[in-house]
Amino acid sequence: MSTLKMLTVHVVLLLLYISARTNAVYVNEFDQQALFHCQTGEYIEEIESEHNNNHEDRRWSFQCGGDGATSACTWSSYVNSWREMVAYICPGDTVVTGIDSYHDNGSEDRRFKFRCCGIATKKPKNCYMTDYANDWDGKLLLIVPPGSVLKGAFSYFHDGHKDRRWKFYICDL
Ligand SMILES: *[C@@H]1O[C@H](CO)[C@@H](O)[C@H](O)[C@H]1NC(C)=O
Repeated sequence: MSTLKMLTVHVVLLLLYISARTNAVYVNEFDQQALFHCQTGEYIEEIESEHNNNHEDRRWSFQCGGDGATSACTWSSYVNSWREMVAYICPGDTVVTGIDSYHDNGSEDRRFKFRCCGIATKKPKNCYMTDYANDWDGKLLLIVPPGSVLKGAFSYFHDGHKDRRWKFYICDL
């Protein structure tokens, strides 16, 4: 890649990052349920969250996009126990279109559910796990690359920070 092209890519990524940060519409207050799903046809393309040390909790923001997600969708059960790992991948060829969670003051943690839908005539492929999308108590930002979908998530809990670090499972579509 030429230096100019690389610079352009970096500027575009930076602008995406800044616009994502300022567009966050949080679906929950700290310590409250965080329930979100995309409108029919769309799937999750962006996740953002911020941590608060007083509440020892995160606020979550999601954005959807794409099209073709079928209306045949399922919610998982809770995929983690308090302070235990989250390791979830939507079944078959389905992708993430919603996330639901609730907080517990005793554990200072959340339990999560995922909503998964198929995408008409398309199969996610070439899947991979991202690097961690946040540091302990830090901002989290996931931007699913254009032409890709979110198919799963991994996180683990830290007793001292009372927070989770998240990685995401992304596939080409
Ligand atoms: C949880 O803790 C917060 C303070 O961090 C408090 O405001 C809230 O009332 C508590 N909720 C419950 C259900 O105890």
